[in-house]
Amino acid sequence: MSVDKVLAHLAATEADAIARLCDWLRIPSVSTDPAYKADTARAAEWAAEQLRLAGLTVEIIPTGDPAGSGHPIVLAESPGTPDYAGPHILFYGHYDVQPPEPLELWDSPPFEPVIKPADANLGTRIVARGAVDDKGQVATFLEALRAWKETTDQPAGGVRFTVMLEGEEESGSVNLERFVEQHTDRLKECQVCLISDTGMLGRGKPAITYGVRGLAYTEVILHAANQDLHSGMWGGRCPNPISELTKVLSQLWDADRRVTIPDFYEGVRDLTQAERDAWKALGFDQIDALKKIGLPPEADVGEAGFTPIEREWARPTAELNGIIGGYTGAGAKTVIPSHASAKVSFRLVDDQSPAKVTERFFAWCKDRTPPGCRWEFIDHSGGDPATVATDSPILAAARRALKAASGGTEAALIKTGGSIPVAGLLKKQLGLETIFMGFGLDDDRVHSPNEKFELDCFRLGTSAHAMFIEELRSM
Ligand code: BES
Ligand code: MN
Ligand code: MN
Repeated sequence: MSVDKVLAHLAATEADAIARLCDWLRIPSVSTDPAYKADTARAAEWAAEQLRLAGLTVEIIPTGDPAGSGHPIVLAESPGTPDYAGPHILFYGHYDVQPPEPLELWDSPPFEPVIKPADANLGTRIVARGAVDDKGQVATFLEALRAWKETTDQPAGGVRFTVMLEGEEESGSVNLERFVEQHTDRLKECQVCLISDTGMLGRGKPAITYGVRGLAYTEVILHAANQDLHSGMWGGRCPNPISELTKVLSQLWDADRRVTIPDFYEGVRDLTQAERDAWKALGFDQIDALKKIGLPPEADVGEAGFTPIEREWARPTAELNGIIGGYTGAGAKTVIPSHASAKVSFRLVDDQSPAKVTERFFAWCKDRTPPGCRWEFIDHSGGDPATVATDSPILAAARRALKAASGGTEAALIKTGGSIPVAGLLKKQLGLETIFMGFGLDDDRVHSPNEKFELDCFRLGTSAHAMFIEELRSM
């Protein structure tokens, strides 16, 4: 049985695998910040080299217009043995990471990975920016490829894969749509996309995610006077853009915390009773989850009429992500600034359209333009929501692999409130379904200081991928 050999090989070489992941984590591939452009390219090259070592043919393809203005996409291929009869899988992951700020809140530097021993709350873990999102999770797949190659001397154990690693997922995937268009011929040969960039139901509770929310990300700037003003001379005599902006934005929600933009809910699918029952049966504990982030039970707030998990997985929201204006330095300064701005984003569900939501939000702002003020609108794009099929034989194979890798625990079917733009894109452009097989935990501090990936999750990831390859070989 080759899979047992592969699993034994993974176990025997685990220390090397973790050291390799740490090498990758040391490269600060922050895609949103131009200062890290060369580092981001280096992270792509690092991944490309791993894929080459696993026997795949690899290209690093520049993106953007002009070409090279975006971060490259790593595209690799294992042809599959001539007698391979299983599906052609597209594995997608991202090698870029979120900015590490605020640096002072990290216990160790974000790009100097450390292995922290288990304590009362957390298991043994790798702490670094990108540990779980998404380098650590991509590494679980890379290590499975390596183990199959080293055990069978065949790339991916003879399974046909296309691997696509993006470097702009954390900055809005702005060049992805064009890339997918330009490489449609190659990508449409794949039967399904596999992504490890989501979480589990909990420790020891593996899960397959079957839906991600979409995102529309905007910035609105409210301009008033052509200069900053003394608030003694001008307070009460002309518009203060900070106060006016916050007055407008506070109208985004009604008393039931529903979003007030006209037609905002257009396309939103009703939850079925079957789904509500299935989610209830997952036994999610909101009070406990709130407690872990330092909140009391009365902090369970959100749209009326829905449970917390329904609000996260199946309902759209409006969020203020940043609000900037006036004096924010130390001490006091009496000023009425010339302008104020806010980053406003919307999490969306099927079948809402990010472009329409953005357009409607800007029109809604215009209808509420405070006297004497002027708006400036910026569309930072986002991504489509995606709910994927749960009845495919390939998904069943992934669930069997996940179950076997977790010592017999059946994988739960869950959704997530986060967004992964590629899934909606592949569905829209190529009709491709996605399987989200992720290994994160709720307390991994994704996008935050002290991001971590627990070694038990890393192990589960490598063996699940290795066993999925075995399943594919026998399909
Ligand atoms: N891996 C996350 C998405 C995610 C987060 C899935 C939490 C499951 C749980 C992804 O890298 C991400 O952060 N996406 C962004 C998308 C955006 C920048 C277009 C997000 O959700 O904010
Ligand atoms: Mn991610
Ligand atoms: Mn992310």
